[in-house]
Amino acid sequence: MKLFDVYPLFNIEPVKAEGTFVFDKNGQRYLDLYGGHAVISIGHSHPHYVQTITAQLEKIGFYSNSIQNPLQQELARKLGELSGMNDYQLFLCNSGAEANENALKLASFHTGKTKVIAFKKSFHGRTSAAVAITDNEKIVAPINFRPDAVLIELNDFQAVIAEIAKGDVAAVILEGIQGIGGIHLPTHEFLQGLQTVCNDNNVVLILDEIQSGYGRSGMFFAFQFAGIQPDLVTVAKGMGNGFPIGGVLIHPKYEAWHGMLGTTFGGNYLACAAGIAVLDVLKSQKLMANAGEVGNFLMEELRKVKAIKEVRGQGLMIGIEFENSVAPIRQKLLFEKKIFTGVSGQHVIRLLPPLNLKKEDAKYFIEKLKEVLAEQP
Ligand SMILES: Cc1ncc(COP(=O)(O)O)c(C=O)c1O
Repeated sequence: MKLFDVYPLFNIEPVKAEGTFVFDKNGQRYLDLYGGHAVISIGHSHPHYVQTITAQLEKIGFYSNSIQNPLQQELARKLGELSGMNDYQLFLCNSGAEANENALKLASFHTGKTKVIAFKKSFHGRTSAAVAITDNEKIVAPINFRPDAVLIELNDFQAVIAEIAKGDVAAVILEGIQGIGGIHLPTHEFLQGLQTVCNDNNVVLILDEIQSGYGRSGMFFAFQFAGIQPDLVTVAKGMGNGFPIGGVLIHPKYEAWHGMLGTTFGGNYLACAAGIAVLDVLKSQKLMANAGEVGNFLMEELRKVKAIKEVRGQGLMIGIEFENSVAPIRQKLLFEKKIFTGVSGQHVIRLLPPLNLKKEDAKYFIEKLKEVLAEQP
């Protein structure tokens, strides 16, 4: 059987990874400033993470959501403590799109409405409701198309007010920091305004922290810089450091009923073990503080480089915008300097490294980037 060929692939075959480095089958080492698409939070193959999942696998790997699983409670308690959102409730699932799908479902149950406001350049996943509010027509299949999905310019508060005034909006959803769209930040005033207008009109405010959450911004969630309390927060990616897990954090005002949401795999023992190990390491190694510190250092240094048009971001979620296409720069970084980076559209290089990135790694990247830029025509 052939694989369904949906991914353009680099000719690199990683076989091992450790900390902020990935090693290919020829033993070549790469600095990982991409984190497998913002997934690696505590670093590759962290010993506590490996040990926790291995020990769990030797006990019990899977049953179902119809029995007592205290690991789910432990995960929820530790997540509440570290994020400062102790009073929220947790629904566990398996991926980012699934988390958003369930959040949108909750919003619709709660309001009895179907219209959703999202923002231009957004990405919320590829499943039905999530892709309908993603700003990329190419990946919206006819079966996903929703005429009641509205895309508004990020930070255009007046347009949101006008749409909500029509009285048919169930939810407003936005990323804590827009990732795939090129690292764009909602302003604090915008987030605070959204919280007020949503509260006043019984509209559910959903923060998608799938890419920007879990300490990447320097706070546990990027929206926490604005001091707001969203109704629902979605998480995945860094939550499992590579083990598939996602979740919805749900404001205490929402009440569950049996059967309202559900999943076969969500909250299984291995996923919980991975999620718990991630939270333990984030806390014990103070990785949020490290993300803030090393991220600020990187952004300050990048802003001194003349060839760069703009540097945007927060913590270790950084967009480096250039006037011309970034493809040749990224190719050289990967194949000549052995550094993985991400991309966003034609003009933005995206950095999403593990949160244990050291200052020396950041300095090494700046040095190599300057060498590559000096060779550009
Ligand atoms: C902000 C955001 N939301 C949702 C998703 C979808 O997550 P998944 O690929 O786990 O379904 C992504 C994935 O890149 C994302 O960046």
